[in-house]
Order: sequence, then C-alpha cells, then structure tokens
Amino acid sequence: MTEYTLSIIKPDAVKRNLIGKINSILETNNFKIVAQKMLLLSSVDAETFYGVHKEKPFFIDLCKYMTSGPIVVQVLKSNDAVKKYREIMGATNPQNADENTIRKLFGKSVEENSVHGSDSNENAETEINFFFSSREILD
Ligand code: CMP
Repeated sequence: MTEYTLSIIKPDAVKRNLIGKINSILETNNFKIVAQKMLLLSSVDAETFYGVHKEKPFFIDLCKYMTSGPIVVQVLKSNDAVKKYREIMGATNPQNADENTIRKLFGKSVEENSVHGSDSNENAETEINFFFSSREILD
C-alpha cells in the first residue's frame, strides 16, 4: 500500500556533505521525495519533536545535537514506506546496522546516526504535520 514517512538527514550527515548520497540511496530504492527542506531546529522544536523521549537519559544531549546544525526534512512516498525506510536506514546504533544500510554506511554513533525515520504510520502523520503544510507536499 502506498504510504508516506518522515525522514530527517541529521546534522552529522549534512555537515559531511552526504545529502546527495543519501537522496541517491532513497531514489534508487524507489522512494519518491515529495517534500524536502533544510532548516535549523530551535530547542523548543527539538524538545517537542522528540517529546516521547523526554524521560530518557539521552534526551538533553539528543536535543542539543539536533540543534547543532542544519538538518534536511523530507516526506518520502513508496509502497510500505515506513517499514521499507526503517530497513534501508538500519539499526539505531550504526554498529548493529546491516551492511549497506544508511546508518552502517554513514553513521558515526548512536547519536550521530545520520538519519531519522518514522517508526509507525501514526507517528509518520504526526511528524509530517510537524514540519510540513499540505501545500509543501507535492505528491
Ligand atoms: P532517532 O530515530 O532520531 O530517534 C531518537 C534518537 O535518539 C535516535 O534516533 C538516536 O539517534 C538518539 N539516541 C541517542 N542516544 C540514544 C540511546 N542511548 N539509545 C537510543 N537512541 C539514542
């Protein structure tokens, strides 16, 4: 079934000029990038976006890291987009990620893991609406 998921190219990957390489992997895997923009998250944005993790010991560092430089946010469209993107991203910790996944290829640590992808269709909708208005999604 056609689905949408939210992708973030994180500060570590933007800083290392990996936007093009990551987009190439997405397009090679038949994702259509139907929305994309670069922005710098405010602290409030990061704390809100990652609100589900606010009790976790890594929350403050995560928010600090996600506001440390520009990110690229994207809406990806494909069959089974949520599950498929999670497979292509690889495990949260790049050390545990399968070969040729984005995080294995480019991730440096569990924090600097290069990309984020929604973990369910429900969260995909919430996360897409957090960053994009309907007129920015050119489907
Ligand atoms: P992401 O998919 O963006 O969702 C939450 C993020 O928290 C996760 O990727 C990791 O980059 C980050 N994170 C930082 N430290 C940890 C940790 N110890 N365990 C899990 N996630 C972590």
